Amino acid sequence: MKRDYNKIYDRKKTDCFKWDLNKEIYGKDDIISMWVADMDLPADPIVEQSIIDRARHPIYGYTFRNDAYFQAFMDWQYTRNHWKINRNWLLNSTSVVVSINMIIRALTQPGDKILICTPVYSQFFVTITDTGRQIVTSSLINDNDEYKLDFADIESKLAAGVKLLVFCSPHNPVGRVWGKKELEELARLCIKYDTIIVSDEIHSDLVYSEVSHTPLASLSPTISANTITCMSPGKTFNISGLSIGFIIIENEELRELIRQKFLSYHLMAANIFGITACHTAYSSSAPWLDNTISYLQANRDFLCNYISENIPQIKLHKPQGTYLVWLDFSYFQLSQKQLQCFLVHLAALGLDNGTKYGEEGEGFMRLNFACSRQLLQKALDQLNEAVKKLMQVEGKLEKLIDNYKEIEDCD
Ligand SMILES: Cc1ncc(COP(=O)(O)O)c(C=O)c1O
Repeated sequence: MKRDYNKIYDRKKTDCFKWDLNKEIYGKDDIISMWVADMDLPADPIVEQSIIDRARHPIYGYTFRNDAYFQAFMDWQYTRNHWKINRNWLLNSTSVVVSINMIIRALTQPGDKILICTPVYSQFFVTITDTGRQIVTSSLINDNDEYKLDFADIESKLAAGVKLLVFCSPHNPVGRVWGKKELEELARLCIKYDTIIVSDEIHSDLVYSEVSHTPLASLSPTISANTITCMSPGKTFNISGLSIGFIIIENEELRELIRQKFLSYHLMAANIFGITACHTAYSSSAPWLDNTISYLQANRDFLCNYISENIPQIKLHKPQGTYLVWLDFSYFQLSQKQLQCFLVHLAALGLDNGTKYGEEGEGFMRLNFACSRQLLQKALDQLNEAVKKLMQVEGKLEKLIDNYKEIEDCD
């Protein structure tokens, strides 16, 4: 059975972050929500059926991950990414954020410096701060065509003593799928300065037809020895609510330190339905994923064309991967608060605030286009109308919103 992605799936009243927290987050229920990184598209029916089948056995006791489960993941990596993984390189996790948190705890001490390339996924900031480590940032270069790593800056930061680089590949929010040369240069610098790389590759299966993803650790045995890779079926198969993840570490010494840390926090257990869905998806959901990527790519192209044709004031780089797009609203010269106010109250859209991703996000918003085309079109039409109104009053937002002062004053 193939799903109809053109249908709008109503997720309200499922307690999902994206639709059931609009009032709390945006102060308003009636908006199109396009923030948190999951899809408004249904998972593979094969995965759904596997969960139902397992649920029919009414004993939900402690359960382990069997050999076939790991083999399905290893086969997936080999087939899709040409990456040959050994069974003993794998550790289990409940999520990528948990993995990064545990890796930081296992390999660094409070106060140690951890480098991130910003703007970047907001939880990188949170998890480094929560563990009492020090954030060091290197801004991506926003070139005319695409975002790039600033190797000179990265080298100067590494030379000043950085314990870990937490790297996002493909990159959330800017949508870059890093090329082999860029990855090799990054790895070369990190090896030179004795900095371990934690490569968050959660978005690695969601890349578009012009590019392909290269797992950093697959580049060479030397790079593999210095890299810890975090992956998960969550984004790929839209099963993030099932809390499951993998960590891949060839380096035995690092692996043991991380394994011990997981054990000490009792984090090795898994949810039965997560195991079932993950195993089924890596074994059987390649056709579903290929179909989903085609749909997402068409959404991406639709969005990019729509904006360049109708709202050219908003700048963007076409994402090469992820279903996220990083929109630059700086043309309108609104403060971040005004921008949020404009989007919520005039466009009725719930986007993700750019400054969550670092100071480079001032004037930016992240939009998630993993939804039906119909909904995406509606959202873009609303944005287009709102921009037209704003242009008519020469950017004076207060002229358009009745209770503007009140809205501006609240957080
Ligand atoms: C780069 C990146 N890493 C990790 C996560 C969260 O992963 P998990 O739910 O497995 O913790 C996200 C979710 O948006 C993400 O974009």
